[in-house]
Amino acid sequence: MEKTESKIFLTGIKPTGSPHIGNWLGAIRPALEAAASFEARYFIADYHALNSVKDPAALRRNTYEVAAAWMACGLDPQKTLFYRQSDIPQVFELATLLSAFTPKGLMNRAHAYKAAVAVNLGKGEDPDSGVNMGLYTYPVLMAADILLFDADFVPVGKDQVQHIEIAVDIAEAVNRNYGKEIFRLPQPFVGETTQTVTGLDGRKMSKSYNNTIPLFVGEAQLKKTVMRIVTNSQSVDEPKDPDSCSVFALYKLFASPEEQDDLAQRYRAGGMGWGDAKKTLFEKMNEALTPIRNRYEELMKNPSVIDRALNEGAQRARKIASEKMEKVRRVVGL
Ligand code: TRP
Repeated sequence: MEKTESKIFLTGIKPTGSPHIGNWLGAIRPALEAAASFEARYFIADYHALNSVKDPAALRRNTYEVAAAWMACGLDPQKTLFYRQSDIPQVFELATLLSAFTPKGLMNRAHAYKAAVAVNLGKGEDPDSGVNMGLYTYPVLMAADILLFDADFVPVGKDQVQHIEIAVDIAEAVNRNYGKEIFRLPQPFVGETTQTVTGLDGRKMSKSYNNTIPLFVGEAQLKKTVMRIVTNSQSVDEPKDPDSCSVFALYKLFASPEEQDDLAQRYRAGGMGWGDAKKTLFEKMNEALTPIRNRYEELMKNPSVIDRALNEGAQRARKIASEKMEKVRRVVGL
């Protein structure tokens, strides 16, 4: 990718629970690295969360948690435009407008909707059971998020790539109809640093597998969680294989190459039990997580700092959004 500073990075963060180290290494850190070199617009997709979170206290808490998490991990709201989706009315105005250009069949083919239908059919239920219109039109709202802010690159996981392709389809339909490049065509940015992080049971770390290591738990809890990593039943004396071990896979994400070599040698030599290996991992991980955990706790104790950051972000974002929306309205004749 060319390194032009004028490129705009944008991503939405769904506030659905506190992040784990897989989210940090796989999504938050690469997005913040991009934000260091490019113009970045990162927002909390609270309306997207509303499709599944119906408890107001939970939605509010999740929003604070996710904002605090990104700020603790290094998002600087002075440099990165950081806002709540729900604070930007133009997003919803644009979503309605885009709906007029979105074939219904395109929504039928969206993975998340298809997955929900497949689950229902598997249970012998009505295909649309429990599917609300927010879930069904999720990709239209996401297209509005992206197109309103002229994003060039959208840092996301692989599961979101289809949504960005849908945003491109919708943008092209509008551009074609008016014979003008009204909307910039975004590209997914699935960075090379986007690494798969191994979970407690050896599978990919994911909330749906219930095998995560939370990013912001206290030291004692972190240690307990690390001690739960599944290993084999080899005795202390036996030489062990670092390359097939979840403890080592996680260690690699935090340790320097020399430290990795060192631990690999201790594996191969025998005489080191799983408890020791886990303790080594815990210490390394704790060292990396302690400063961000401290910042996170500080922010959660001072939510007004978060409010101020998000309110200022919303003001700046609304200015960009209203200028864009004015142009769009003019072109379509509204
Ligand atoms: N759908 C994304 C997710 O589930 C969140 C999201 C909403 C998003 N709007 C976006 C991501 C716009 C990128 C761009 O993670």
